[in-house]
Amino acid sequence: MIGAMSTLPTAARTAPTPAAIAQALGRRVLGQTEAVREMAVALAKHLGGVHTGNILLIGSSGTGKTTLMRAVESFLEADPGTAARSTVVRFHAKVLAEATEEGRPGEVVLRRLLERAREKLGAEAPLEALLERVSGGLVFVDEVDKIRSHVGDELHAAGIRAQEALLTLIENESVPFELPEWAGGGVVPIDSSGILFVAAGAFEGLYDSVFDRVTIGRDKGALQAVTVVEGGEVREELQFHLRDWLRYDDLFEYGMSPQFLARFDAVVLLADLGVEELTRIFVEGADSSLETAREYFASQGLELAISPAAVRRIAREAARQPRLGARALKEVFRRVIRDYEFDPSKVAAPGGALLIDEPEVEKVLGGGGPGGAGQGKRALRR
Ligand SMILES: Nc1ncnc2c1ncn2[C@@H]1O[C@H](COP(=O)(O)OP(=O)(O)OP(=O)(O)O)[C@@H](O)[C@H]1O
Ligand SMILES: [Mg+2]
Repeated sequence: MIGAMSTLPTAARTAPTPAAIAQALGRRVLGQTEAVREMAVALAKHLGGVHTGNILLIGSSGTGKTTLMRAVESFLEADPGTAARSTVVRFHAKVLAEATEEGRPGEVVLRRLLERAREKLGAEAPLEALLERVSGGLVFVDEVDKIRSHVGDELHAAGIRAQEALLTLIENESVPFELPEWAGGGVVPIDSSGILFVAAGAFEGLYDSVFDRVTIGRDKGALQAVTVVEGGEVREELQFHLRDWLRYDDLFEYGMSPQFLARFDAVVLLADLGVEELTRIFVEGADSSLETAREYFASQGLELAISPAAVRRIAREAARQPRLGARALKEVFRRVIRDYEFDPSKVAAPGGALLIDEPEVEKVLGGGGPGGAGQGKRALRR
């Protein structure tokens, strides 16, 4: 049996602090303090060779789940010390479901970890060292909601199998693993209980089903309207926050099996992005479309400048499309910028500067755009 962490020398256990990890992750993932902290603590434990519970991240589309996973990968790669100690793989849950159909449940994960370990330690590394890395790996399962066991009343066989496949790996002290040919073939038992699993999904529709449960469904009346006084006006408002009402049962009903969910110690909700966060993501985000536009205009000999008021107007417009999360910024900004991309002379000053201010943005967005219809009954979505 290959031990998970027990054979790591003590020196290798000195791990970065959660605060340092959170700071690094926070450079890529803006806002989402809770998710970043949760991930930082889990990573600190994992890198320190201490057992840590698996994490399930739930958050609307475009709120930073995949960004967070990528941030962890870059964090681990950035420092040669941690890079040498960590073996990370990221899967799209659908790929796991497909691999499961080919009849090798779970093995695809182990095989990828083994390959990753070989990349890190080199082709000459002894098999025992590689297998130790496998049993202490970090596995991201993205879009885990795509392996739900049913969609509506229809069973989703591939989803059921994929959840079962993961079940065989999570917290299992002896998983038979058929080694690939390059590793000599044969079956070895793997202790996978030290593998840290982080799964993430948008769980589209979960918000609405929980909202319905506490307003018109089984728990009708649980969510009470509150009286809000604003600008001298008094009105009744339903203030619904998923985190206050989400129960494991809601996730079972969504199609995640109780056994599968039981393997996740923490369910972490990512917040929907508000105007403040969207503003920051637009200006400071690692792959912000503003930055890309700056590069484009620079290549045309123009310096792009955008006023804070224009930025805020764009962020406000993006916030009207919560289903897209930060991706709405790209959509909104594209509408604003496309004419200037073709003909910058409209706003270009003689010195080669191109200034976009609020009126220019307003001119394009004034009509309201695709988000203009508002958010209907979910106006207080958070
Ligand atoms: N919290 C955030 N901080 C920085 N950038 C973000 C954040 N959230 C979203 N983005 C930006 O928005 C885009 C989409 O984000 P991401 O891929 O992380 O969304 P997601 O939560 O994985 O959504 P989906 O459920 O649709 O996969 C990325 O380009 C990313 O740069
Ligand atoms: Mg994603």
